Amino acid sequence: MCPGRVLLERSAKVPSNECVAIGDMPPLEVIFGRTQRMELARTKLERVAATAIPVLLQGESGTGKEILARLLHLRSDRAKAAWVKVTCPAIPHSLIESELFGYEKGAFTGAYSRKRGRVELAHRGSLFLDEVGSLDLSVQAKLLQLLQDGSFTRVGGHETRRIDARIISAANCNLRTQTEAGSFRLDFFARINSVTIDLPPLRDRVADLPVLADYFIDVYSRQYRVKSKPLSRGVARLMQRFDWPGNIRQLENMIRGYILIGDEEALASELIPGPVQEACPEIDLANPISLKELTRAATRNLEMRVIMEVLQANGWSRLKTAKWLNISYRSLLYKLDGANILRRPGVYRYSPSAPPNKEGATASAMCNAASSPTDRYDA
Ligand SMILES: Nc1ncnc2c1ncn2[C@@H]1O[C@H](COP(=O)(O)OP(=O)(O)OP(=O)(O)O)[C@@H](O)[C@H]1O
Ligand SMILES: [Mg+2]
Repeated sequence: MCPGRVLLERSAKVPSNECVAIGDMPPLEVIFGRTQRMELARTKLERVAATAIPVLLQGESGTGKEILARLLHLRSDRAKAAWVKVTCPAIPHSLIESELFGYEKGAFTGAYSRKRGRVELAHRGSLFLDEVGSLDLSVQAKLLQLLQDGSFTRVGGHETRRIDARIISAANCNLRTQTEAGSFRLDFFARINSVTIDLPPLRDRVADLPVLADYFIDVYSRQYRVKSKPLSRGVARLMQRFDWPGNIRQLENMIRGYILIGDEEALASELIPGPVQEACPEIDLANPISLKELTRAATRNLEMRVIMEVLQANGWSRLKTAKWLNISYRSLLYKLDGANILRRPGVYRYSPSAPPNKEGATASAMCNAASSPTDRYDA
């Protein structure tokens, strides 16, 4: 290892010691909800909490791995001892070994005094290795030793030291695939996942959406001291159909924005995939354009997509849709009139590319014609 390089890289920011207070936790009924997969996670967590068995938490980003890791610590007999979190990818490769295991005075240029690493700080407590898949093979080997008998040496030291720390790891990537590719040690993998707790993506636990949403509404209404507003049924339905790529973190961020801004329409538009990206119309660079006309067309396009989505979510009831969108029934009809609504039996379809009021029929006329009992468009 080149000492000069280490010195240089040492000046790069290393996150301050993450031996921190554990903070508030959501109530258990919020954390686990009532889906079967979370029930399984809860059972596993409760069975292993009192032991020192290493636990691996797996799941997509934002599914609550850290929340569960903290809960595991709090539920163990180590709860009063240290909780040390290491965000593995946040520490430069050349520094991770000394950050984890500490170093002796003179171990490298700039090591003016000895320093304890995070492993030592976690003695009698829990060491949380977040995003463990990013660790170098050499560091994995040293951690494997720690997992086997609790022993390690500081960088630049010869003395074997021992600690007693519960290792909790988290991964949002597939570690098994990494072992096959050779970037993750199989023996280390086998050690850290004595018990694996899988956290399902939010899209697979839609039954838990109401309790999670209510929880975040309550938390942020208190935090920002605003009167809390429950979500309408229309938004609740949109939430159930949303894909939630960012999982619970995304839900939390959306609700925070909703509480701060208080605009349910804005929240709804975030839950409708596509319109924002598609709001930008194609621009013909060969001819002069009217910005005003382009903007108007884009707004109309976005508005109609939102309306169609809300219509669908409200069982094609125009009355409910108008109410939900906080516009008058007449205004909704007017908007539908001015837009390109194509009708297929029982279904209304918006086509931005078609000329307005194609086939000579206005939307309201079509809506009126749709009042037969077979039609899903109820008012
Ligand atoms: N079950 C839950 N109940 C309440 N809040 C939750 C729950 N799961 C996650 N959260 C909240 O969602 C956010 C993301 O959770 P967390 O940091 O635990 O996810 P993660 O799986 O570790 O994500 P990443 O892989 O991106 O690190 C946090 O603000 C957390 O408070
Ligand atoms: Mg995390």
